[in-house]
Amino acid sequence: SKGVSLDDLLFFYQGIPYPAPVCSAETFQALEIFEARRDDMVVVSYPKSGANWLIQLLNDLVFTTSQTKHENVELPFIECGDPEKYQRMKQFPSPRILATHLHYDKLPKSIFKNKAKILVLFRNPKDTAASFFHFHNNTPDVPHYNSWDQFFSAFMNGKVSWGSYFDQAVAWNRHLEDENVMIITYEDLKENLASGVKQIAEFFGFSPTAEQIQSIAERGSFQAMRERSQEIYGSVGATLFRKGAVGDWKNLFTEAQSQEMDAKFKECLGGTKLEAHLKY
Ligand code: A3P
Repeated sequence: SKGVSLDDLLFFYQGIPYPAPVCSAETFQALEIFEARRDDMVVVSYPKSGANWLIQLLNDLVFTTSQTKHENVELPFIECGDPEKYQRMKQFPSPRILATHLHYDKLPKSIFKNKAKILVLFRNPKDTAASFFHFHNNTPDVPHYNSWDQFFSAFMNGKVSWGSYFDQAVAWNRHLEDENVMIITYEDLKENLASGVKQIAEFFGFSPTAEQIQSIAERGSFQAMRERSQEIYGSVGATLFRKGAVGDWKNLFTEAQSQEMDAKFKECLGGTKLEAHLKY
C-alpha cells in the first residue's frame, strides 16, 4: 500500500476517521442494534495503548478461574469486521470480552443500559503516537506514512484512524468516576503487572488465588507474549509486540514536538484526574 494517499484509506463515519479496510458504514449501522450483556467485559482504549495485552490478560483470567476456553473466533474489536458479526456474537458464551477504540459518545448505548463493566486503558500520548507510527509503517496492508513528521502532525490534529487521542482523553476524564468504569494505564501495568491483574480481577468480580495472579502476570509479560505471538496472531504478531517499553518516544520526537505535545496535553488535561493517572 506504499504510495497510496492516506486520505483515500481513511473513511469518515459521523465525523471520525477510521481505517477503510477494517471498518465500514454497514458495520457501524449494524452495531447500533448490538446488545451488550451485563457480564460483558469491555476494554476501551485509543489505538496502540496495549489493548491486545489487556485482552490476553482477560482471556487468561476467565480461563484460569473458570477453566472454560472460549472459542472466541471474532476479532474482539466490536466496530471492525463484517456487519453479520453481531448475529454470531449472540451465540458466544458469557463472559464475552469486547474491545473497542470508539469514542465515548459513539459506544453502543446498550453497554450503559445493561451496565456492562468498562475497563478504560490509557497510555501516555507520546508513546502512543510513537507506537501508532511504527504500527502503520511496519504492518503490511496498513497505509504507510512518508515520515514521522507527517504522522506527528496528523496525530496532533486527530486526522488518524479513530480520531483524536486528546478528544478521547477529555471525554473519558469526565467519566472516570462513573459506575461500572475503571481506568488502568499502560504505565501501571508495566510497573507492576501482578497488582494490575489483581485490580482488574476484582473489578470484574473474579477471585483468582495469589498463585493464579502470579502465573497470569508471567504469561502476560512482554517477552512471553512476544514468544507466543506468532501462534496467537499469525504474521501480525511481530508488529503487535514491537518494543513494549515506556519512553520509546524519545527515539522519534524532536524537542519542539515534545514541547508541542506537552502544551496540548496541558491545555486538554492539565490538573485533571487522568493527568494524575498518567503521571504525565
Ligand atoms: P510498542 O509499539 O510501543 O511496542 P495495542 O495492542 O493497543 O495495539 O498496543 C500495542 C502496544 O502494546 C505495542 O507497543 C506493544 O508492544 C505493546 N504491548 C503488547 N503486549 C505487551 C506486553 N505484554 N507488555 C508491554 N507492552 C505490550
